[in-house]
Amino acid sequence: MRTNQPKTIYLSEYKVPAYLVDSVDLRFELFDDGARVHSTLSVRRNPESADVSAPLTLDGDSLKLEHVALNGEELAASAYEDTGDQLVISKVPAGFELTVVTWIEPHNNTRLEGLYKSSGMFCTQCEAQGFRCITYFPDRPDVMARYRTRIEADKSTCPVLLSNGNDVDRGDLDNGRHFVTWEDPFPKPSYLFALVAGDLVEKQDTFTTCSGRDIDLRIYVEPRNAAKCEHAMDSLKRSMRWDEEAYGREYDLDIFMIVAVDDFNMGAMENKGLNIFNSSCVLASQETATDLAFQRIEAIVAHEYFHNWSGNRVTCRDWFQLSLKEGFTVFRDSTFSADVGSPTVKRIEDVTLLRTAQFAEDAGPMAHPVRPASYMEITNFYTLTIYEKGAEVVRMIHTLLGPDLFRKGSDLYFERHDGQAVTTDDFVKAMEDASGRDLTQFRLWYEQAGTPVLTVSDAYDAERGIYRLTIQQSVPDTPGQTDKKPQHIPFALGLLGADGEALPLSLESTADDESAPTERVLELTEASHTFEFHGLTQKPVPSLLRHFSAPVRVVYPWTREQLIFLMSHDPDGFNRWDAGQRLAVDVIQSLVGSPDFEVDPRLVDAYRALLSDSALDQALVAKMLQLPSEAYLIELSESPDVAAIHRAREKVLAHLATSLRDELLACFHRNAGAGAYEVSPESIARRSLRNTALAWLLMINDDTGRDLAVQQLSDADNMTDRMGALRALVNSDYAAERSQALSDFYERFQDDPQVVEQWFSVQSSSDRAGQLPQIQALLKHPAFDWKNPNKIRSVVGVFAGQNLAAFHNPDGSGYSFLGDQVCRLDDSNPQIAARLVTPLTRWQKFAPAYSSLMRSALERIRDKTGLSADLYEVVHKSLEV
Ligand code: PHE
Ligand code: ZN
Repeated sequence: MRTNQPKTIYLSEYKVPAYLVDSVDLRFELFDDGARVHSTLSVRRNPESADVSAPLTLDGDSLKLEHVALNGEELAASAYEDTGDQLVISKVPAGFELTVVTWIEPHNNTRLEGLYKSSGMFCTQCEAQGFRCITYFPDRPDVMARYRTRIEADKSTCPVLLSNGNDVDRGDLDNGRHFVTWEDPFPKPSYLFALVAGDLVEKQDTFTTCSGRDIDLRIYVEPRNAAKCEHAMDSLKRSMRWDEEAYGREYDLDIFMIVAVDDFNMGAMENKGLNIFNSSCVLASQETATDLAFQRIEAIVAHEYFHNWSGNRVTCRDWFQLSLKEGFTVFRDSTFSADVGSPTVKRIEDVTLLRTAQFAEDAGPMAHPVRPASYMEITNFYTLTIYEKGAEVVRMIHTLLGPDLFRKGSDLYFERHDGQAVTTDDFVKAMEDASGRDLTQFRLWYEQAGTPVLTVSDAYDAERGIYRLTIQQSVPDTPGQTDKKPQHIPFALGLLGADGEALPLSLESTADDESAPTERVLELTEASHTFEFHGLTQKPVPSLLRHFSAPVRVVYPWTREQLIFLMSHDPDGFNRWDAGQRLAVDVIQSLVGSPDFEVDPRLVDAYRALLSDSALDQALVAKMLQLPSEAYLIELSESPDVAAIHRAREKVLAHLATSLRDELLACFHRNAGAGAYEVSPESIARRSLRNTALAWLLMINDDTGRDLAVQQLSDADNMTDRMGALRALVNSDYAAERSQALSDFYERFQDDPQVVEQWFSVQSSSDRAGQLPQIQALLKHPAFDWKNPNKIRSVVGVFAGQNLAAFHNPDGSGYSFLGDQVCRLDDSNPQIAARLVTPLTRWQKFAPAYSSLMRSALERIRDKTGLSADLYEVVHKSLEV
């Protein structure tokens, strides 16, 4: 814990390491009351470092140093300095062996970084800087070494001992102990090191690679979860095949392992050959996991697997390059999900997250470029900007180059940099070299923070048959960055005629109209561009930024007629959905704070058409029926009044439900489960439609809906339907049914932590069941656990992030509640505390009545004694803007 200001690290100050480590020999002695770590490094001076007299500086955090020896000779205390976070040895030869012995206490490790215990098992988390909590080491990703790891532990409590690579030796020791030795042939940065020791069962399978090698696949879980690994295993095999086919990437070791742990700060971790997963991102069964969970698990298994190439074989030079591996890997996993599911639906989901949460981050006090220029605490930079915007940047390169040149570029990147620690610029350079395209201006996407705004205007010249489209771009100021340059933006569009026909886009008057494409990707590079489309006999309706071809805001004066037209005619499914969202946003916004209340009947008609259109892809219909979320409406408005937005949205929802009651009932029945349960896009869409219908019916307290929900809750053969019914009841005014449903559900699933997390969330996100006193009661519930990040997220995180009307209670109680919980957590798990505080950091955006209260909650956190570096950075940066 620090009380003074943490140091800022700058990209511009990057220096190559003065020493390299070729190999690491580790021996872990694991005991109930701690662990002794013996580490022997073979070190040599880096020939590329100019600093020939540099001392050897190793990072360490919360370590008890027991022994240091150089080339086998114990060092006198005067020969080194232990500064608390570094071990500095000033006189070392050009090449040598260093042995360090440390003592650590995994059972007291509540930060969940380094080696810690989770439900009795030992596990590690080393990204970004956790390895220094295990032993002294140059803990930076550009130091890559070969690891050999021997684990010794009690045979009965830790029958399974795992680390990276292949197991090369095992045997029994005295006192009921045993050991296993692992060897990883691939040099890797320390953040990819992993160790697991515990009482686990394994699910085993094999995969034959494209070159005919058999890979041993294993998922390790606690015995009670043995039956919940099948989906993750299938997802793994699909990912392995896909990476061979889409990127030509074959798996490299002989064994690939996944371990599920209950206490984990993030979703999952790509450690070489030994991925460690948050249980909620790997365990699934029909009875306990929703469709959303199934899809999430598939995507995360794929993501971590894909890291084996984009992240592990080619890694990051420093943490400013984090998006090199994360942006690219998210792009890869989202293409995978699109390929194995519905591409349009996947795009809608990705864009929803981006526009709701990443745009908000880009507009807030922590806004940073995809490649940041400075940070205080790197764990604060595992953000939507690094991941999601980073993926959009790679997607734009894909759009600009086309699939073939993009693949050529990725082949070149992997070939050129295999085994290296590189930069985002190296990635772009490989794309340039393979394609011959100049991406100089495009690089601004990595350097400039903020979401570009495209303001579009148009005019039709009937006489000459020309449609003119003018697009102006500007990139807003962000903390520390002003006067930004125009960026290189791929802008996909189409034009529609009055009957919905796709019009040819001829940019020259001489072109033969008929052969012109009906969709184009315009490349914007200047602050303003005007494009002329020739040979048009009518004023077209523009379909702009198709597939969301760039992460930008588009401002265009759409009329409601145009939006309704696009909703039913745009050949681009994504833009159909987007037109529907824009229409709903427009209708809701026009009602915010307005005393008279009349919902545009055209919105009702549009939704009625959707509900009864069985010809349209039902997965798309299911998405189109979701009204824009409160969070998105808030993001879109300036100085939002949360309560007014909440009321307007609820009114529109209630009006739609009342007007469409019969259609909703028909939709519910039409989409009743048919045949055996399966997780296919069609059946997912069916369940989604059915549960949306149910939710809407209960919104208006429809007794038939209530009976159907109660029935479904008891009869459902899967968690999606069960949860759909529970959620609908919880969000209704049927108080008796709600509490009955909640207690029956808990009774039934109390022994399953992942289901209990969902049970918490369904309440914390509900303005009926999740008002502050109820949230406080949940924190006292026996199943709540302050040491478990999932439980904290499912109550506190969901309340502040999703139950917006309750969190933004005008009396400020939600804010001080969050402040209290953040302070409390900061002492045990600062990473989670710094994430949880995010909603408060957006204080400046809100209407004055809210923002002053939010600000004072932040100030109270700032004044906490012993504020962690994590929280210090976030709180100070958001108060300083
Ligand atoms: N690298 C992990 C992923 O995105 C995320 C992670 C970061 C996990 C830091 C733990 C700690 O795949
Ligand atoms: Zn990742």
